[in-house]
Amino acid sequence: MAFIQLHEEYFKTEKWIKHYSSNHQILIVGDGDFSFSLSLANSFRSASNITATSLDSYETLTKKYKNAISNVMALVRLGASVINGVDATKMKLHPHLTLRRFDRIVYNFPHAGFYGKEDDLHVIEMHKELVRGFFHNASGMLLPGGEIHVSHKTSAPFCNWNLEELANHNSLRLSECVPFRIEDYPGYNNKRGDSERSDEPFPLGECSTFKFTLDDWYENTVSHSLASQRNLSCDHGQLYYDPGYKSVNFDSKYLATPEKNRFKEECSRIFEWYFDHVVKTTWCPDEWVDYNVHKGLTLGYHRFLTNASGRPSSDFILFLEEIHRISISRIKWLEGLLEDTRY
Ligand SMILES: C[S@@+](CC[C@H](N)C(=O)[O-])C[C@H]1O[C@@H](n2cnc3c(N)ncnc32)[C@H](O)[C@@H]1O
Repeated sequence: MAFIQLHEEYFKTEKWIKHYSSNHQILIVGDGDFSFSLSLANSFRSASNITATSLDSYETLTKKYKNAISNVMALVRLGASVINGVDATKMKLHPHLTLRRFDRIVYNFPHAGFYGKEDDLHVIEMHKELVRGFFHNASGMLLPGGEIHVSHKTSAPFCNWNLEELANHNSLRLSECVPFRIEDYPGYNNKRGDSERSDEPFPLGECSTFKFTLDDWYENTVSHSLASQRNLSCDHGQLYYDPGYKSVNFDSKYLATPEKNRFKEECSRIFEWYFDHVVKTTWCPDEWVDYNVHKGLTLGYHRFLTNASGRPSSDFILFLEEIHRISISRIKWLEGLLEDTRY
């Protein structure tokens, strides 16, 4: 009963600002002077659902923007997590983000810096590289039904970045593209963000918010793996969890026969310890951990097949080994933190 009241109380006070709800977990990437994050936080009258990040370090922010520090302080007072030094092209491995998932991941006006004329091909390529890396990372950090939003100028040469194509290469599809109006976000000051004129605004002109979601095929893969599947195996070009229950189709051309058994064996070898560790440290029910790790594995495998066309599927094992190594060092790091806080 108390839970129901709490639940009702929580949703009764939901507040919206344009596409964003106070009930969304929101990650803001590449913020300039943090005025966009603060605009959302002020509208929600809380920032406990906001993780605001910048590539700039705290010291750099103080030099670049006159209001950044007061904006950051206001955000922290409202309960935001503020993280500096977050590279959008590597963020899924950032220690404070790697285990987080979000309903909205927002990058307003991505720009790699001023390295020449905006219509120079090499400059366009630098910007595209940034956005490509951002999509690659953000697509793995969404909660089910989550969206990635990029606000961007739509006139030439900016339209030549071809955001949609960059997104498609990362299993994302454009779900909506709506005009961006700065007046929808009171207090937001768009910033150039680079050079000695970092704190100045840039002319917005025609611009839109592009919304991306994981594509249907990708979502279907997840929904296919619902239910508590346990044993992972590969057969006849299908990746099975508990053969006879549910299966996930993929193109058999990617699997050579000897790789099938090896894939199964290697997955158990690499992940068995992980199941144990997660259960011990989080006290989650065994099936829950099992299900989520399997779901992650299927998603990872399909993403690998999409992004690494032409590579043998056995390379996926090398990729798993890498995750294994990263997980071990992360666990050691977490255990170290725990030791430090013990008294
Ligand atoms: C045109 S400014 C826009 C700033 C802010 N989003 C706004 O709307 O005012 C581009 C921003 O992208 C950031 N940026 C550039 N490369 C980045 C990267 N690899 N990861 C994260 N942010 C990056 C810059 O620091 C700069 O703040």
